[in-house]
Amino acid sequence: MTPPGSDETPGDQRPDPEGADPSVDLMEYQAKQLFARHGVPVTVGTVVTEAGDAAAAAEEQGGRVVVKAQVQAGGRGKAGGVKLAETPREAVTRAEDILGMQIKGLTVHRVLVAPAADIKDEYYFSFLVDRADRGYLCIASVQGGVEIEVVAHESPEALAKVPIDPQTGVDDAKAAEIVAATGFPAEVADRAQEMVTRLWDVFVKEDATLVEVNPLALLGDGTLEALDGKVSLDDNAAFRHEDHAAFEVADTDAAGQLEAKAKAKGLNYVKLDGAVGIIGNGAGLVMSTLDVVAYAGERHNGVKPANFLDIGGGASAEVMAAGLDVILGDPQVKSVFVNVFGGITACDAVANGIVHALEMLGDEADKPLVVRLDGNNVEEGRRILDEADHPLVTLVDTMDGAADRAAELANR
Ligand SMILES: Nc1ncnc2c1ncn2[C@@H]1O[C@H](COP(=O)(O)OP(=O)(O)O)[C@@H](O)[C@H]1O
Ligand SMILES: [Mg+2]
Repeated sequence: MTPPGSDETPGDQRPDPEGADPSVDLMEYQAKQLFARHGVPVTVGTVVTEAGDAAAAAEEQGGRVVVKAQVQAGGRGKAGGVKLAETPREAVTRAEDILGMQIKGLTVHRVLVAPAADIKDEYYFSFLVDRADRGYLCIASVQGGVEIEVVAHESPEALAKVPIDPQTGVDDAKAAEIVAATGFPAEVADRAQEMVTRLWDVFVKEDATLVEVNPLALLGDGTLEALDGKVSLDDNAAFRHEDHAAFEVADTDAAGQLEAKAKAKGLNYVKLDGAVGIIGNGAGLVMSTLDVVAYAGERHNGVKPANFLDIGGGASAEVMAAGLDVILGDPQVKSVFVNVFGGITACDAVANGIVHALEMLGDEADKPLVVRLDGNNVEEGRRILDEADHPLVTLVDTMDGAADRAAELANR
């Protein structure tokens, strides 16, 4: 199991193309909005996208504030993305510093302006899905604030790991066990138990796969507050949380935009870093297409696949056009490899889909397409494409041959 922490938590993983663990990672302010709904002590603060708006936000939050980068990554403090501002004017300067920064490859487009807390101590707390044990796990420590991997490495005894039976969850007894195992000081034990129970509510009621609070802070007045929050939501449960859709903010990163566009069209697409766009039907075929293209790319200046895209069984003209539209919208793409194995949807239907998709896209289709068809009704499919004789389309019979051709075209 991956140890959780502000850097490499399960929540940091990209959704893998096979869709085994689709999760939506929230930014801190969104996590805090969820916390607030379940009575977790938290101050959400105000999100701004323009530095100039930080002054009014700071005024609203009490004058002395922290300005915090909002990106789907931890370690913002260490990267310079969390700054104290004594006055609203200073908040503007800090916001100017942080907006536009890169943190772990993500551009900061918004900052959170939150009241500066009077911190006496920092603890670490998390609930997560423990796949290895087919249960849930609570990991907590009174040595919080710092990256939890550091604690795990340097003083593993300071890390409490409490398994949770999914059947019984966290009842009062379990919450008390967690508090005792963590070693929260006696004077905050009651508050800590309340906090544990409320965070469990967030974890279960929101269908999260990760809820992490670091720091869970002890404040000067003796209360506890979640000063940071990291939540991954289980995308498979999205159907019963209509309100979660609001968390998918339009990301202005190119990759995020393409993925959002694909998602809106109902496509299973993951942006990668190469130049050969890939369309296939069936996750297994697409995965092996990625391998074959990467291998062929070694002969062509190291070109690589640009994406994962599984258009599924249907492969109608509309789906094909939607897929091509997303892939051609990726400025890194130089060629496209369409690799289809005709099954229930036979090759002639797929070939017609490609022809009509190119008609639908018109001038927007401007990159060479290498098409490999095989399976049910392949002869008719190839005949349709030959007859259409589209200037962008090259038909290649074998998967290896088509991959080589697509890589070669991408390298031109
Ligand atoms: N509202 C706040 N008031 C005072 N200090 C804060 C506040 N929020 C965060 N900090 C400090 O900044 C550190 C890093 O912030 P955090 O939100 O945990 O970001 P990250 O985990 O991405 O580095 C915290 O450990 C805490 O010491
Ligand atoms: Mg943190």
